[in-house]
Amino acid sequence: MTQTKKQVVLSGIQPSGRLTLGNYLGALRNWVRLQEQYDCCYALVDLHTITARQDPKVLRERCYEFLALYIACGLDPQKNVLFVQSHVAAHAQLAWVLNCYTMVGELNRMTQFKDKSQKNADNINAGLYDYPVLMAADILLYDTAKVPVGDDQKQHLELARDVAIRFNNIYGAPDKPVFRVPEPMIPPVGARIMGLQEPTAKMSKSDDAESNAVYLLDGPDAIERKFKRAVTDSGAEVRYAPEEKPGVANLMSILSAITGESFEAMQARFAGQGYGKFKAAVAEAVIECLKPVQARYKDIRGDEAGLKRVLQSGAERAAAKAEPMLARVHDVLGFIPK
Ligand code: TRP
Repeated sequence: MTQTKKQVVLSGIQPSGRLTLGNYLGALRNWVRLQEQYDCCYALVDLHTITARQDPKVLRERCYEFLALYIACGLDPQKNVLFVQSHVAAHAQLAWVLNCYTMVGELNRMTQFKDKSQKNADNINAGLYDYPVLMAADILLYDTAKVPVGDDQKQHLELARDVAIRFNNIYGAPDKPVFRVPEPMIPPVGARIMGLQEPTAKMSKSDDAESNAVYLLDGPDAIERKFKRAVTDSGAEVRYAPEEKPGVANLMSILSAITGESFEAMQARFAGQGYGKFKAAVAEAVIECLKPVQARYKDIRGDEAGLKRVLQSGAERAAAKAEPMLARVHDVLGFIPK
């Protein structure tokens, strides 16, 4: 019966910060390719986002902005389930259950919790600590086979797998596990875009330094300026050497990700010209790449009623998948069915 059923791909995105070129080249663009082959669900994880203080007005605007950008990047709201996490109560409900099957010792090992609590020493709340359990619930509710995440989320995914296996061992039969144990889907190397000012760290959507990231809604002038100022090195040679020349390697990765040009071809094309022309070419490629996305964004964001319909349908389709799973979990635990 389930043979022809497509596998589920699920990912969550925090509606905080601003979506960057790194999100586009490293994630969003790949997700568009997945939409034919998999049953894809993407959640705007607002419940996760409140582990740090948010301005309510900004949070709401961000959710619409992110959704409109996803669609503008090519994610078809019919083919993908695009939804807001808080619209599907089963996420919080399953998170509670999984809390009782996650060890404090496991959560203590989460490096992101340690990093985040260091950065926000005045707001180390229980939600921040429990964040990975809610993420496990997001994933396990949907019978998810694959989870596209960046490197930084691998440890959380590993925890979700451990909790699923533990729960299955207690409540599942060998031929009938309760949860599917999800696999990570890590983007191919080179798809990882680094900061323009700090090319040894990932381009982040919640960076304070404006010039470190290219945002999907940046205009041509801003993009040009950011690439002009991008950190390179004291040399003048366009050559792919990520260890020795991380700035140049990152710019080459960006150009190659957009145009498909090989590093060798690039090296030959810009030989003996210094970095000026090269940077201008990268800027130009990025501007052209983002232009259609930005044009579509304007129309999509302008139709807020349309976005609300997408979320309404997304929430209904997500709940239709999540609720039977939650009911099954409650059932195996011995809760009386409703
Ligand atoms: N923790 C993820 C991040 O910050 C976001 C997230 C929440 C997520 N739930 C998820 C990612 C489920 C993948 C699957 O990037």
